Amino acid sequence: MKIPLAMPVFDEEMKNAAVDALQNEKFVMGESVFKFEEEFARYCGVKHAVSTSSGTFALQFALQALHVNSKDEVVTTPFSFIATANSVYWAGATPVFADIDNKTYNINPNEAKQKVTSETKAILPVHLYGYPSDLDAAAELTEDGKHIMIEDCCQAHGAKYRGRKVGSFGSVGCFSFYPVKNMTVGGDGGMAVTNDEEVAKRIGRLRDCGRISHYEHDLIGLTARLNTVNAAIGRVQLRKLEEWNQKRRNIAQMYDKLLNDVNGLELPPSESREILPVYHLYVVKTNRRNELKAHLEGEGIQCGIHYPIPIHLQPIYRQLYGFREGDFPKSELASNQVLSLPMYPEMEEEAVKQVSHSIHDFFTPNT
Ligand SMILES: Cc1ncc(COP(=O)(O)O)c(C=O)c1O
Repeated sequence: MKIPLAMPVFDEEMKNAAVDALQNEKFVMGESVFKFEEEFARYCGVKHAVSTSSGTFALQFALQALHVNSKDEVVTTPFSFIATANSVYWAGATPVFADIDNKTYNINPNEAKQKVTSETKAILPVHLYGYPSDLDAAAELTEDGKHIMIEDCCQAHGAKYRGRKVGSFGSVGCFSFYPVKNMTVGGDGGMAVTNDEEVAKRIGRLRDCGRISHYEHDLIGLTARLNTVNAAIGRVQLRKLEEWNQKRRNIAQMYDKLLNDVNGLELPPSESREILPVYHLYVVKTNRRNELKAHLEGEGIQCGIHYPIPIHLQPIYRQLYGFREGDFPKSELASNQVLSLPMYPEMEEEAVKQVSHSIHDFFTPNT
């Protein structure tokens, strides 16, 4: 492919940080882990951050630390990466889906409200593609004190809602550092952020075999810590995140300008006074999605589909919960129409133009 969909950054500074950590720190729970946690908490504007070996574990431990259990339902979106719902399953609770908003692809607050029952313990909005979910509406659902909110920020490092970073609104916010995310740790990794010290401590024990001291365990935990070498790389990446996010927004603006006159193509929701997105992905929508994808790929432009199968229609979710086609029509339509275009901080202006020209050629071949 001439133009890739995504391109994680790994530079000399990260390499040096990794080697330094391997040579001078403990491989597990070294100093870099705690420094990374402190710096990430400060970045999000919260008191505590606890690292994990993946975003999925951050979500699962957040639910468990907030005492979500097998009697509980968690309302979330079926239009996300499957890990969102899997974390609910692994916490022992039942995922209850609410359909999405057509424009933002995030959970529709009215649909979510209708799914709240006496069994509902938590709402789990996802800031899909780096575009913040309606957090005012989600917060309304938690006002009664009976429900909690956990934010899935795995695609939204640094995004802001009404001037505040996502992750700081819910009881816990969860992040992933999988390589193609807005920042990575040079492998898998995750982080849970919270203002609640007790919850932070419980997540810290859950990721570390349930330990309260080296030989004593008071929870059934897992071995799901972030490696020291990954934390060292994460610290360097975090320092560059703001600059990278701004570059992503600049690229999105270029796409917006170059593509806004294409008939038959819907562009992503844009920035507003309330919402500062971070464009983890730049996603367009068209009812000719598969043809457009083939056309772009034929010209060496890599595209992605996030996600071609909504979670409720994944074989395991059909089998476990009996979901069928038609259960969440907006998510199903989106999964047939969305297309992710190349987006990464170091993407050259020429490449953005090339993708845009190729899209114009597809929709209006004779101009
Ligand atoms: C929305 C969403 N939730 C959860 C996850 C899970 O994160 P991880 O892959 O680090 O376990 C991801 C990552 O791919 C994601 O995009």
